[in-house]
Amino acid sequence: MEKKAELYKGKAKSVYTTDEDDKLILHFRNDTSMNDGERIEQLERKGMVNNKFNAFIMGKLEAAGVETHQIQLLGDDESLVKKLDMIPIECVVRNIASGSLVRRLGVPDGMDLNPPTFEFFLKNDDLHDPMINDYHIRTFGWASDEEVAQMKALTFKVNEVLKRLFADAGMLLVDYKLEFGRYQGRVILGDEFSPDGCRLWDADTRNKLDKDRFRQGLGGVVEAYEEVAHRLGVKLD
Ligand code: ADP
Ligand code: CDP
Repeated sequence: MEKKAELYKGKAKSVYTTDEDDKLILHFRNDTSMNDGERIEQLERKGMVNNKFNAFIMGKLEAAGVETHQIQLLGDDESLVKKLDMIPIECVVRNIASGSLVRRLGVPDGMDLNPPTFEFFLKNDDLHDPMINDYHIRTFGWASDEEVAQMKALTFKVNEVLKRLFADAGMLLVDYKLEFGRYQGRVILGDEFSPDGCRLWDADTRNKLDKDRFRQGLGGVVEAYEEVAHRLGVKLD
């Protein structure tokens, strides 16, 4: 597979075209950002850990019947994926209150959410990814009603699969963000699932094992990601 032009450079990944029109290469960089790219730091090994972690999770999701864009790992920090027409929306499911939900609604951090709750955000850094609802999506034509229903159903299906996977490895899946895209008329999972885009707490101590360590200056960011990978049995080296 030949890597061709850089199509897009995001905050954490670079996207390249390949010699096949319907396939892209995702390069997971060590860049770590917060506040919509306001602060960016290099964290050694992060690109490799997230690439391998993401490939492992995408494999588990495929096995559970969730179609994903992942085709194969290409090396330490690159993966070959199906080229999607991305829907510019972030889908967030929360099992435990934290982050922006706590800031917005004043509920206690760490509160169990039963049933889990769901939110849509518009993917737009300049606007700081504002929260949107189904009506905004319909009015502005970001996705069809059917696609909205599929994104919700798939995001909750991912919750069932991953909540169990992390629980079995002694972790709580607090919340996570997914992005979907269109591929041959279907809505399938794109982007990545890694500790950069979810919250994971140790089930006993509730220690943070995700990007909040970076956001809150707790240190040991990549070490925590590696700990998560190790607990799940993800092969890193
Ligand atoms: P951001 O754009 O938020 O800074 P990244 O640095 O992760 O995020 O960049 C990756 C970009 O690639 C994102 O815009 C994401 O929507 C897009 N993307 C992810 N998977 C695919 C795919 N399979 N096909 C096309 N675009 C994708
Ligand atoms: O992280 P923050 O408090 O700003 O926002 P949130 O709404 O609480 O985030 C919910 C979940 O989505 C967390 O796991 C974030 O890591 C993830 N997220 C993301 O990956 N990318 C974004 N642009 C926003 C949230």
